[in-house]
Amino acid sequence: MRLQPDFIHEFVPGTSSRTLLLLHGTGGNERDLIPLGRELDPNAALLSPRGKVLENGMPRFFRRLAEGVFDLEDLKHRTNELADFVAAAAQHYGFASDNVIAVGYSNGANIAASMLLLRPEMLRAAILFRAMVPLIPETQPNLSSVRVWIGAGAHDPIVPVPETKRLAELLRNAGADVAMHYCEAGHELTPADVDSARRWMGKLKDQRQ
Ligand code: MLT
Repeated sequence: MRLQPDFIHEFVPGTSSRTLLLLHGTGGNERDLIPLGRELDPNAALLSPRGKVLENGMPRFFRRLAEGVFDLEDLKHRTNELADFVAAAAQHYGFASDNVIAVGYSNGANIAASMLLLRPEMLRAAILFRAMVPLIPETQPNLSSVRVWIGAGAHDPIVPVPETKRLAELLRNAGADVAMHYCEAGHELTPADVDSARRWMGKLKDQRQ
């Protein structure tokens, strides 16, 4: 049976009721974040789709007009399509749709943030590495039961720190519990980011398995 809507993806079953939705950066694919997902949570199921948009042959999750300038209509469409895919995958693979945590890097973090804003019912929590404000929603979502960890690079030339702070504010105003972590790094992901995210994830786990 094919999932509708479908994405090229990997699914790795887990031994807990939690599923990590892994969302790669520009030029990545569905295999990129599997090791990261395992490192963050050795017991969770992993669902890792490949972005459907190609930019000079590089997969992404939505179109952009320039670096940091997003095609908002495409972003909204792709966000809903991805959310519908997660719901279809939950049915197909039999994982709990109310215990999905997004883990995104760069472009993947941006579509995860967009999903929090447009389809808040899909995610219980999110780990966002190098994320920016993807869009301002027309209606404010209720994120009062959602927890978000954001990892910013103090010297990131693509996502300046004030931009990350703007995203944290937007999510907090919608009720989310947001933890910010700053690394002595640029746009690249560092072991310090992963360490901090893993510790945060451990605390989340203690609250519900
Ligand atoms: C984006 O396009 O989502 C951001 O600029 C991050 C990137 O992919 O470079």
